[in-house]
Amino acid sequence: MSRTGKESRAKVFPREWDMELYMAPLEGITGSLFRNVYQAHFPGFDRFFTPFFGNTGFNTKELCDIGPDANQGMPLVPQILSNKAEDFLQIAQRMKDYGYTSVNLNLGCPSGTVTAKGRGSGFLRDPKALDSFFAEIADKSPLPISVKTRIGYEDESLWPEILAVYNRYPVTELIVHPRLKTDMYRPGIRMDAFAYAYENANMPLVYNGDINTPEDYRRIVTEFPNIRAVMIGRGILRNPGLIGEIHGAPPADNKAIREWLDDLMKQNHAAYTEIPTLFKLKEIWTYLQDRYPEHKKELKQLFKAKKLNEYKNAAAVILQ
Ligand SMILES: Cc1cc2nc3c(=O)[nH]c(=O)nc-3n(C[C@H](O)[C@H](O)[C@H](O)COP(=O)(O)O)c2cc1C
Repeated sequence: MSRTGKESRAKVFPREWDMELYMAPLEGITGSLFRNVYQAHFPGFDRFFTPFFGNTGFNTKELCDIGPDANQGMPLVPQILSNKAEDFLQIAQRMKDYGYTSVNLNLGCPSGTVTAKGRGSGFLRDPKALDSFFAEIADKSPLPISVKTRIGYEDESLWPEILAVYNRYPVTELIVHPRLKTDMYRPGIRMDAFAYAYENANMPLVYNGDINTPEDYRRIVTEFPNIRAVMIGRGILRNPGLIGEIHGAPPADNKAIREWLDDLMKQNHAAYTEIPTLFKLKEIWTYLQDRYPEHKKELKQLFKAKKLNEYKNAAAVILQ
């Protein structure tokens, strides 16, 4: 396929506004339990991605999370974080053995411990090494590869070169989070870099980053009508009903949010002890709390809770 500018892209990937919606992988949050409970309460995502797998030897938690039993009826793409072709191929083979039909390569993680080893967005510093990596895995990979990428490490100058690498290989889909590694999650999205990908990527494109309202979603699909999908992460933690709102449903009320959180609590507590269950719930509340600025006192109690009962009492007042 030749390079597709805006017009030719429209012919190759005709899309209406009902393009697909992907749940972003959030390490420590969107494991199988979260994905299942979220989908049961707020249906509307078309595809899910696991948080990254970075080691060839999986631990028990990872094995439970990736197994078919935990992911029934859910279109799920496992994500791999690696800069070693051999490791990538080994993990991809295991994913194939589990029955998955594609894998996603993480080239976006900005965490210092990851990038220091040249993985995630750390790999974007060296497009030549990235090219060699793709050259090694492209023909040997047991499964088709999609990529989730940031647009560079510390400046945008390498973005055209990085994109040219992806264009040289059979990358099935490119998910772009238009921030640099050094941007971390600071406000400000580099839309020009996304527009550059829209003009120059020769594979289906997915937008990811800072979709927090239906208006944010509409702005992206209006400006880039021929992307394949929009991927949303933190937006559904700040507003759990966002996915429904995008599909035209009314905003989620406190009752719907309470039922979702209660279910999440029950299922987490069935799988883990009290402390890790509390930890998971508090992590979600770090995002959700912005909806309830009038409940400063109860939010403080919720974050200080050492027992599930204390958590429940605080959450009940906030969500009444
Ligand atoms: C806590 C946390 C964990 C994340 N874990 C992953 C991950 O495992 N793999 C990945 O590709 N991106 C990961 N990301 C990045 C998100 O998938 C997404 O690209 C980013 O949050 C921007 O999208 P959003 O504004 O819709 O959240 C993580 C982000 C956060 C905040």
